[in-house]
Formats: sequence, structure tokens, C-alpha cells
Amino acid sequence: MYSRITGTGSYLPEKVVTNADLEKTVDTTDEWIRARTGIERRHIAADDQCTSDLAVHAARLAMTAAGVQPEDIDLIVVGTTSPDLVFPNVGCLVQERLGIRGCPAFSIEAACSGFIYALTTADRFVVTGQAKCALVIGAETLSRIVDWSDRSTCVIFGDGSGAVVIQPSEEPGIISCHLGADGRYKDLLCTPSGPSKKPTADQPRDPFITMKGNEVFKVAVKTLESIVRKTLAENNMDGSEIDWLIPHQANNRIIQALSKRLKMPIEKVILTVQEQGNTSAASVPLALDVAVRDGRGQRGDLLLLGAFGGGFTWGSVLLRY
Ligand code: UT7
Repeated sequence: MYSRITGTGSYLPEKVVTNADLEKTVDTTDEWIRARTGIERRHIAADDQCTSDLAVHAARLAMTAAGVQPEDIDLIVVGTTSPDLVFPNVGCLVQERLGIRGCPAFSIEAACSGFIYALTTADRFVVTGQAKCALVIGAETLSRIVDWSDRSTCVIFGDGSGAVVIQPSEEPGIISCHLGADGRYKDLLCTPSGPSKKPTADQPRDPFITMKGNEVFKVAVKTLESIVRKTLAENNMDGSEIDWLIPHQANNRIIQALSKRLKMPIEKVILTVQEQGNTSAASVPLALDVAVRDGRGQRGDLLLLGAFGGGFTWGSVLLRY
């Protein structure tokens, strides 16, 4: 038994913030942002939109694409690091909004790898027969934990959501999933305070994202390369067999370096960072949905999804779409 993606969906909030807009608020330039990140614009949630609102939009589209109804869904897993509330979790909020009753619903917090962790978890439920129709979402409003006066982070992040429905299949489907983490890097990309961590004299309360960008960059490139190589090796595959590489969209330079190191032509890589910025756990399902809807991702294609994020966390999913 395998699980297989039967529908995808995604959503970007209406409000667009361009690099030119940011030039007016922080000491930056469109040229710097484009050269260092590849980002030209990002979408930002409206004041009255929370992560669950974005998630619901993507979920509805994925369910329509899969041809399933709320009563069919028997598992909801959401990857997010910017939940509406400490609790109830975003899965429960989505469940209520979609009129789904009784099934397990939970969130997984693994920063930018959140969707890969969520998909891996949901795959296990389907493969072991514990779920027959799982809704898997990556959704974020990281704009709420960005310090809009910090030019080193505010130019990078955006809001959005992506979702898939997975169902049992005799043919793969999801072929293999690989997850990893290394907490020794916890301080390189984090929010220094949170609901439980009290401020101290040397660490006042700071709920905003802080990042040692350059150090994160180097580990991100190496780790993404190694997770892709590991995934290919464990499946006795060569990079040339992959139809589409769908990496986490953190920085165009990271993706270009990855494509070069893996000798995978950039034409075989889905790139959305220019239009969306880094949407954390939403970035991989957003890019997947873009590829499916613009016709690049065809049924039967071999897709390799990969992500890397704060924690550090990382993961990959190899699947036949
Ligand atoms: O999603 C999870 C994983 N996240 C990532 O993978 C992100 C990884 N990191 C990155 O994408 C890049 O490191 C950044 C885009 C964050 C930064 O690019 P960089 O080439 O590593 O720049 P840097 O941090 O080394 O900074 C270079 C210079 C500095 O000035 P000095 O010290 O050389 O005078 C910064 O102060 O650029 C300056 N700078 C800026 N200048 C204009 C930093 N941010 C900005 C800005 N506009 N927005």
C-alpha cells in the first residue's frame, strides 16, 4: 500500500509588498534584495487573516481537485510555525471551518520543513491503513513574527499556504520520505522568546525572527544537497530521472547552488521565490501547486520535494505524481 497525491491547492493573500515598497521603510534597495535573494515581491496577510484562513483556502482547492468532500477527510495535518493561537492547533481550526467532524487534526512545527514533516506523517497514517483521505497543509503568516524594521529579515519572508489530499493507492505515490534535524543549530535561526521562555536580563523578550543569514545559507546548501543525494541513493536513482525538483524557496542563490552541485538543470527546478519570497512551511506545497496548475507537473512525473529550516530541520519526499 502506498499513498498518492490526488489533489493540490494553494493560496496567496491579496496584499503584495514589492521591494520598492520596502525601500521606503528600511535601508535597502530593490537591487540588493534581487541580487542576494532573487525575491521581487511577497504576499502579506490582511490584518484580519490568520494562518488558518490561508490554510482553509488552499485546503478547499486541494479537496476540489481531488474530488473529495469534508465527510471524506479522516486526517488533517498542518505544518506551521505561525499558528493563529498557542492552541487550539491550526488543524482543529481548519477542521471546524471546513465542517469536518471527529478525525484527528494536529499541527507540526518544524519551521520551513513543516510541510515535509506533515506529509511524511500523513503518509505513514495512510500506508498503515489508519487514514484513507488525509488533508496535508503548509500554511504561514510569518509576517506576524517578522521585525519590519530589521532589513536583514523583513525583505525575505512572505505569507501563503499550500495543501494536498493524499489517498491510498496500490501504485506509488509517495515512494520515500527522509527527515532530519540538528538542534545544535537552534540559535542561528529562531525567535529568541516564546510563550514559555521568560525574558532575562541578557535576553529581553523578543518575539521576532532572528537569523544569522550567512551561516544559515552555508548549512542550507550543504544539507539540501545531501538530503537529495541520500534520497536518490536509497532509491537507486540518478538525478536525471527526476522530472521536477521542488525545493524550499528560501533564496534563489541557494536553489541555483543546489542545482549546480547536483548537476540538475535549473529548467527542471520549480522556482517561485521571485513572486512569493520565503513562505516557510507553505513554500513547497505552493511551488508544487504552481507546477501542477501551470501544466509542468504531469501525472506520472517523478517529483523530489526538499526543505530546510530553523531547528535546524530538513526533509525530502520522493513521489510519483
Ligand atoms: O528558510 C529557512 C532557511 N533560511 C535560509 O536559508 C536563508 C539563508 N540566508 C540567506 O538567504 C542570505 O544569507 C541572506 C539573504 C539572508 C543575506 O544574504 P548574504 O549575502 O548572506 O548577506 P549578509 O548577511 O552577509 O550581509 C551582507 C551585507 C551586510 O553589510 P556589511 O556588513 O557587509 O556592510 C548586511 O548588513 O548586506 C547588508 N544587508 C543588507 N543590505 C541591504 C543585510 N540585509 C540587507 C538589506 N538591504 N535588506
